[in-house]
Amino acid sequence: MNASDITILKESALADIAAAADAAAVEAARVRYLGRNGRLPEIMKEIGKADPAERKDLGQQANAFKNEVQAAIEARKESLQSDAGRAALRDLDLTLPGRWRGLGSRHPITQIIERATEIFRAIGFTVADGPDVEDVFHNFDALNHPEGHPARNEKDTFYLSDGRLLRTHTSPVQVRYMEKHTPPVRIIAPGRCYRRDTTDATHSANFHQVEGLYVDRGVSLADLKGDLAHFARELMGREVKTRLRPHFFPFTEPSVEFDFSCHVCGGKGCRVCKHSGWIEIGGAGMVNPKVFTAVGYDPEQVTGYAFGVGVERMAMILYGIPDIRFLYDNDVRFLEQF
Ligand code: DAH
Repeated sequence: MNASDITILKESALADIAAAADAAAVEAARVRYLGRNGRLPEIMKEIGKADPAERKDLGQQANAFKNEVQAAIEARKESLQSDAGRAALRDLDLTLPGRWRGLGSRHPITQIIERATEIFRAIGFTVADGPDVEDVFHNFDALNHPEGHPARNEKDTFYLSDGRLLRTHTSPVQVRYMEKHTPPVRIIAPGRCYRRDTTDATHSANFHQVEGLYVDRGVSLADLKGDLAHFARELMGREVKTRLRPHFFPFTEPSVEFDFSCHVCGGKGCRVCKHSGWIEIGGAGMVNPKVFTAVGYDPEQVTGYAFGVGVERMAMILYGIPDIRFLYDNDVRFLEQF
């Protein structure tokens, strides 16, 4: 073992490293020369056995060997990396069109709810919320549905084993809000509703409504009609007209159903409006004094209007969607159109 052995070994190590074509080959050379069972530890062992006069010098040479080989390994790794980088750049075609990442869009139901919220916010309404799992008092009793009213039937309503139910409409939010706030009240309440309906092109057991409630001194049916007409024009377009038809709801008196003139044919009659020129949008009316009493308001002091509209129905009309089930299938080819 002498100095020239180390020099020869170093040259062969540097040659191997220079010839390494990839990171794995560099690593193999490192293991071969510097690894635990490689050449360097062997040399160190032999130096230990060498003539004490030469040991120091040999030790220094071995150290220099280690440092140089290590540096060569690092340098080779770096140059391989930048070669790879350059090759990648060479293969990069800057004239190719970019890749389009499909952007998501809001679900049509969400869009209608947001639009309705904006329209009523702009005229002083705030948004209120209530639970999907309701009690019988808020869903029926306080809204003047007497015992035995058909809507309370188990055939129409999902009851839970504890006697509560999945709310059949958003109207209980009116009750909850009035219990906690004194008049004047101006709220809208969008949300999910549940009914034991068999699913078909226009029915779903789970659907959405937007509820509205305005209570103050001297609120009248004229306010209701004016605000609904404003809503219709904002949502559907300036030319859309509104009409109220007498109806019955237990929680309003008088009650109406309201229609928007068909925005597809402009009221002349077409397939969308079944040739009537009008499209039914929801129910409404003047809050029944019995509801005020149930929430602790004095019906001698305040009056109010309330309305409820079907969100799916508005989406189907506005976007010309022929089947309610399209709204729940989550087929991207459908959703991407909105
Ligand atoms: N809750 C009724 C329904 O689900 C809709 C409705 C009618 C809501 C009249 C109201 C109203 O606030 O005043 O069919």
